[in-house]
Parts: sequence; C-alpha cells; structure tokens
Amino acid sequence: MSAVLVVHGGAWAIPDEMGPASVDGVKAAARHGASVLKSGGSALDAVEAAVRSLEDNPIFNAGHGATLNVDGEVELDAIIVDGRTLASGAVSCVTNIANPVSLARAVMEKTSHIMLTGKGANQFAESIGINTVPTDKLVTEYEKKEWEKHKKYIAGVMQEFNTKWAHDTVGAVAVDCAGNVACATSTGGIRNKMVGRVGDSPVIGCGGYADNSSGAVSCTGHGESILKVTLARLVLSHVEQGKSVADASQLSLQYMSDRVQGAGGTIVVAPSGQWAATFTTERMAWAAAVDGELWFGINPEERLKEKLSQ
Ligand code: GLY
Repeated sequence: MSAVLVVHGGAWAIPDEMGPASVDGVKAAARHGASVLKSGGSALDAVEAAVRSLEDNPIFNAGHGATLNVDGEVELDAIIVDGRTLASGAVSCVTNIANPVSLARAVMEKTSHIMLTGKGANQFAESIGINTVPTDKLVTEYEKKEWEKHKKYIAGVMQEFNTKWAHDTVGAVAVDCAGNVACATSTGGIRNKMVGRVGDSPVIGCGGYADNSSGAVSCTGHGESILKVTLARLVLSHVEQGKSVADASQLSLQYMSDRVQGAGGTIVVAPSGQWAATFTTERMAWAAAVDGELWFGINPEERLKEKLSQ
C-alpha cells in the first residue's frame, strides 16, 4: 500500500496576511514528512519530522512562534502516539524546548510514563541531552504584540475562538507502507492562558490518538472543548462504527459545536490510506502527501493540488 501523510497548522480565523506563509509552511512540512516515509521511515518518524518542521516555523503556534501565557511566558504541550502498540508520550508546560514533539517521543521511548510536565519534563530533557534553547528565542515579535493587545484571557467558545485572536496548534498523521499509523500534535496553547494551563494537545484521546485498528487523528481548536468531548477518540469511534474518516470528522466536530459550542479541526488517516482534513473554524491550513501528489488548502471546501516532487 502507499503511504499517506497529512499535516495541519491550526484551525482559527487565519488573517489574510498570514495565509500564504501558513500554506507554504504546511506544504513544506508535508513534503518533509513524505520524504521520511519515502526513504523507508515509519509513520512515527514521519509525523515527528513533519511536526518538527512546523515547530521550527514561526508562523505557527508551536515551538518557535508559540503563544504566550498571561505572564508573557512560553509553555508548550505536545503528544506523539504509535498506532502499532498504543504507546504514547507527552509533555506539558515545557519552557525552553524548541521541539517538544521530540521530547514527547523520548518520554514514550525512554521512560515508563506517558506524560511529564513542567520542571520534571525539562529536567528529563536535560538528562538525555535534548537540545534546549533560551525561552526568549521561541518568542516572536508578532506574539509579543498580540500578547500586549489581548492581556485578558478570553474563554474560547465558538465565536471567540474562531477569531483572529486565536492562533492554534500544529499536527501530523501518517500511515506508512506497512499500514502502521501514528499521530503527533504540538502547541503553545491559548494566548493569555493561565500559568500552568494545559489544553487538549498533550492529552491522549483528546489532542491526538492513533490505533492501527482504526486510524490516526490530530486535533486543533479550543482545548477545553476538545477535552470535554475527547475529540480524537470520538472521531475514531465513528470510524470503528463504519463511517468514512471524512464523515467521522464532520460528525465529531459538529457534536463539539452543538454540545459545548467549541470550534476546531481534525486531520485523520486510516490504515487503508483514506484521509481527511476538516474544520469548523473560518480557516485551517493543511496539506496531504498522497500518491505522489500534494493536496492543500486553507479555506472551507478548498482542495488544491500539485506534484509532490516539485
Ligand atoms: N488546542 C490547543 C489548546 O487549546 O491548547
């Protein structure tokens, strides 16, 4: 079977001036992840590589470019899940890590735990030699300005989350040639969040989930809403009941909207290679590397295509 990789750069009302860079960023990340799959890497390797690319790109709210908490500090969350074994690793509230997704993978592979938080996660990073950066290096001028503008935390219900104020999360899902699936999600969380607030992204079954028996999902959107409906698992439970990945995503996002007035987006891939990128916000930048082609979009219903090898 052929491998598939899908990425997103966050579901929110992306302003026009950030549109082209967001689309370029997800396309570059999808190409990077696809090249890992092409050279024989696993789905797990591919989602980590794709998310690292998104974390390194300051246009996105993850790693470099992350949103700031109420004290003006970066606190990062990330998860990675291996659909072969249901193994997962996550970190929350980490401060000076450029690529939290790789630290999450280290938690999965080098500890007997699933999630490390705050100081403990940072200490673990040091102990295994994960690259650390001064936290200031992760802060962009754009985020500093937005933080100044919106000093007050706004509860991100549907109308509020789906604004140019939001700025949300990156993620990737993949299926490799062996039919193994994986997901990864990484975020700075919600701008002006309380110190110590953890959203959906690092929580298994909420910000992401992967199981070879059904598929892999990465979520984006209002974290408290995603947590309430366990969005990633909800999507896969619809898949398990026979829905296509596109219908499963739509039903789950609609449920989140109706039940808790939350907006967001998902990317999904099934072991068969079926995939979807769906959102209930104004926009979500996404890209999918499928059968030598790169699909991408940012507006509802938009599906553009170019050759992957360009
Ligand atoms: N979806 C990311 C967050 O709410 O933290």
